[in-house]
Parts: sequence; C-alpha cells; structure tokens
Amino acid sequence: MTYKSAKGVFDILPKDPDPDNQWRCSHLWQYVESTARKLSSYYGFREIRTPLFESTELFERGVGQGTDIVSKEMYTFQDRAGRSLSLRPEGTAPAMRAFIEKGLFNQGPIHKFFYLNSMFRYERSQSGRYRQHHQFGAEALGSPSPFQDAELIDLFYTFLQTLGLKGLTLHLNSIGSRETREAFKNELKKYLLPHLASLSAESQERFHSNALRILDSKNLTDKEILKEAPSILEFLDPLSKEHFEETCKQLTNAQIPFTINPLLVRGLDYYNRTVFEVTANELGAQNSLGGGGRYDGLVQELGGPDTAACGFGAGLERILQTCLAQGVHLPDFPRSTLFLIPLGEEAMQTCFAFLCRLRKKEIAAEMDFSGKKLKNAMRYADQIKARFVAVIGEKEIESRKIELKEMDTGKVEVVDFDTLEKRLTAHSNPPEK
Ligand code: HAM
Repeated sequence: MTYKSAKGVFDILPKDPDPDNQWRCSHLWQYVESTARKLSSYYGFREIRTPLFESTELFERGVGQGTDIVSKEMYTFQDRAGRSLSLRPEGTAPAMRAFIEKGLFNQGPIHKFFYLNSMFRYERSQSGRYRQHHQFGAEALGSPSPFQDAELIDLFYTFLQTLGLKGLTLHLNSIGSRETREAFKNELKKYLLPHLASLSAESQERFHSNALRILDSKNLTDKEILKEAPSILEFLDPLSKEHFEETCKQLTNAQIPFTINPLLVRGLDYYNRTVFEVTANELGAQNSLGGGGRYDGLVQELGGPDTAACGFGAGLERILQTCLAQGVHLPDFPRSTLFLIPLGEEAMQTCFAFLCRLRKKEIAAEMDFSGKKLKNAMRYADQIKARFVAVIGEKEIESRKIELKEMDTGKVEVVDFDTLEKRLTAHSNPPEK
C-alpha cells in the first residue's frame, strides 16, 4: 500500500522532479518569503502568527455566512469536546480575533501586522487553485486615512515588483459605505431584472442572495450584460468619494499604475470603501495574484472597539508560478561551496573536522560518509552542484595540502590545510538568513 497526498494539496521539496512544477522547490519559497519579511519590516509591519484552526463562528461572523468561503469551502470539524472548529480559510478574521482577545488596542492607536500562512479552502482543484494555499498578508489597524490604503497597496505592489514581475494590472475600486451598497444593489437589480433569464445559473442565484457578486462573474454572457450596468462609483457617498480620490492621488504620487475597475467587488463580506486586486495575464482563469481592501467594521463586528482597518492577501503559489512563466531571475538551487571525499578511515576524521571548521565560518560544506567508490562520490558532488570538490587521502594528510577542483571550470588549485577557509570565503554560499 502506498499513500498519495490528498487532492488539491502539494509538497514543497528541495527539488521537484517535475520540470513543470519547479515553483514547488523550497529554495524559491524561502526567497519569496524572505522578500516579504524584509519589505514588511521596511514598512513597519510586524509578524503575527495565529493558530491553524479557530472556532467556526469566527469565520461565519467575520467572513460572512453568504460567502462561498464560509458556505461551501471550509474544512470544519468537531473536536473531541464537540466544539465546531475550522481550518483557517483566510488570515484577516484570525488576526482580528487575536487583536481583540489580547486587547492590543490598549497598546496604542496603530497596529500593523503581516503573516505568511497556509489557508485551507475546499475548492474545485485546478491549476492555480488549491485546497491548501499560502498567503503573504498584511493588515493595518487604526487608521482611516487613505494614505493607509495607499501604503498597503504600495507594499503589495512593491513586493511583486521586487520579485521582478512584469505586466501586472492593479484593479482599484471603491464599494463605499453600507448605504452606498444598498442603493447601488437596488439599481443593479433593476438593471439586471430584464436580463435575468440570460444570466449564468450562478449569477441568477446571486441575484437573490448577493447581487453585488454578479459584478465579478467570469461568465462571458454575464460580462456582456454587465457592460451597460450602472457603476457603483456613481453611488458613492461624499466621504467615500473623497477617500477614493485621495487614495488614487497617493498611488499616483507613489508612481503605482492602477486601473479603476467598477466591477471589482471581491468575495468576502467585510469590505467597505477601497477594494483592490492585482492580476497577471500568465495565469489564465485564476489570475488574481492577491487582493484586499478596507474593512472598517470588522473589528467591531467581532466584538472589539470601532477600529478602521485595511489589508491584503497575496497568493504565493500563483506569484511563484507567474515568476517562472515570465522567466524572471530567481535564485539558483543553493549550492554547497565544498564537497569533501575522504579515502580511508583517517581521512574520514580529517574531513569531518574540516566540515565543523568550515561551517563555523558560514561556509556551506558537505562530505561523503558512505565510502562510495571515488567515481560515484564525484557523480554525487556533481549532482548537488558543489562548487569545489576535494579528495582527501594519505598523501593530502601527510602534505597538509588539498587539491581543490572547481566544478564549473575544471580548474585545479592546491591549497594549504590551514588556509582553506580563507580561500573558500570568497566563494562561500551561506544559507539564506
Ligand atoms: P482572497 O482574495 O480570498 O482574500 O485571497 C487572497 C489571494 O489568495 C487570492 O488573490 C489568491 O491569489 C490566493 N488564493 C485564494 N484562494 C486560493 C486557492 N484556493 N488556491 C490558490 N491561491 C488562492 C483574502 O483571503 C483576504 N483575507 C485578503 C485580505 C486581507 N483582505 C484584507 N486583508
């Protein structure tokens, strides 16, 4: 009996054997994650880690009962005491729960969090859509200022740019206040009513449950009908309108190109005012690299004080896939600087002592423990792409000199036992910090 991973999930390996799945190589994940950490710290966002599961009610209240995520996609289970728990499908509600539970609002007016977490959604698995996916997310609490919206969007966009991505479209919209949405919903329904029978089955259902979501239908007939639909931007209340204009202005100041897309509404219930999404063409149907927006009412909805807030979540699978599809420069598989091949028992000990010395100097080094034939050990060194290889036997121990072979060029150089670290420092490849 052999086991396979569950449907819709994947392993992240040092080297994925499938050439089409190189985005699953762990060194690429480390690189993307370290870029996210570094940028977050420049923008003053600090890490928050919340548990993998929360009470189901948190997501029902936070994300919304009527959303796809809560109504169809959660991994919900009962623990042994009969409590209903759910694997987190998204990161905002858990971060707000922690903020409220720990009374962080007593520690000052502004709180900026980031997270790198896996999320779980029981979705139809297809390319770019997984049942466990990973997000780089950021949430800023306490500021109603449009500068805060602009800062968040800037962080997200700069993250994508720093990775080298091109051809991005930042879609921006405002869905205003609750009153804006109510007034708009009525107008939208009035407009759609004569077309109801022509809409997709999903949109027909949404017409009754959540008419705003019809706007981001992917169905071509729906899209055609929506071309003439009223725009939510025409319904914005004066404060939301001002907020939106100021957000646009600050993005322009920050030289971030954006497209105003009045059809963008997003699939979670907590948003008000600003909503945004970044798409890339390479991804096909699942083309959203991430998105977010303002959610000023959520903290209060979850039992905390009235707190302005906004954030984003960026999907790391799709981002890495797009990086590879665009051929952007990504770090190579990490290489050891030196691979030592001992010949005999005494050489084993000498090589092992070398390894300890080299690693203390942050030089990545490995050795052959197996006593394989020289040819096989060399083949392995080649396979792991060690930069240098040295064979150590009686002769080397006696002369205290090593023949260092540079694998890329075949060049050989004799180095003294005592100066090995110095020689290799120039080529050292310490693990990423
Ligand atoms: P979301 O749009 O549901 O927002 O997810 C954010 C991003 O996660 C998506 O744009 C996509 O890149 C990625 N993603 C979502 N589901 C999947 C999936 N099944 N497979 C692969 N990637 C996926 C949120 O989750 C909000 N919490 C974002 C937010 C934070 N809004 C405010 N703060």
